[in-house]
Amino acid sequence: MSQVHVIDHPMIQHKLTIMRNKETGSKDFRELLKEISLLMGYEITRDIPLEDVEIETPICRMTAKEVRGRKLAIIPILRAGLGMVEGLLNLIPVAKVGHIGLYRDETTHKPVPYFCKLPGDIDDRLVIVTDPMLATGGSACDALAMLKERGCTNIRLMCLVGVPEGIEKVRAEHPDVDIYLAAIDDHLNENAYIVPGLGDAGDRIFGTK
Ligand code: PRP
Ligand code: URA
Repeated sequence: MSQVHVIDHPMIQHKLTIMRNKETGSKDFRELLKEISLLMGYEITRDIPLEDVEIETPICRMTAKEVRGRKLAIIPILRAGLGMVEGLLNLIPVAKVGHIGLYRDETTHKPVPYFCKLPGDIDDRLVIVTDPMLATGGSACDALAMLKERGCTNIRLMCLVGVPEGIEKVRAEHPDVDIYLAAIDDHLNENAYIVPGLGDAGDRIFGTK
């Protein structure tokens, strides 16, 4: 069964509180999401394998460590997942980036696919899927299924806020995918929005409504 990691470092919680506040505008919202993504990235990449490399410091030769193969891919679920890419790229500049486009139908709340463009060697990479909101879990589950259809076997899901029903859906359909979140909220409302949540993440990032 997959593991659920809640990364509740005080600095992440502080930044998330500002994001949740409805008075926070798009510029600050985007900036905070980027900062939190970088901080969460430390935990998500905590166990990636290292290998020995021989280098020469100004003083002597040494055996040092570097990330093995550097085979990572960041896959945002459009649109809101885009807000987590830059922070992760600051941490892992050599990562490749692919995109999966899904939007939630307003009445059924079911995801509708509209775009998929992935690195050619995606099946050979550790994939980090990003989406700030894990609500019903439908979008995340469909994105993970699309990646598995293309051969991905090593996938992690990075969200900001989730609710127990969305987390359980992902765990049931994708028991091999670990989930990383900054907070687990209480429940979904009648429009399948997270309560207390932070509203519509895509609209708040891009200033749309
Ligand atoms: C939001 C969010 C997730 C999805 C979560 O996207 O960014 O992708 O809803 O809901 P779920 O867990 O119930 O599927 P939305 O469909 O609003 O698209 P957007 O990011 O383009 O605004
Ligand atoms: N999508 C969002 O952007 N926010 C929610 O609370 C649920 C889905």
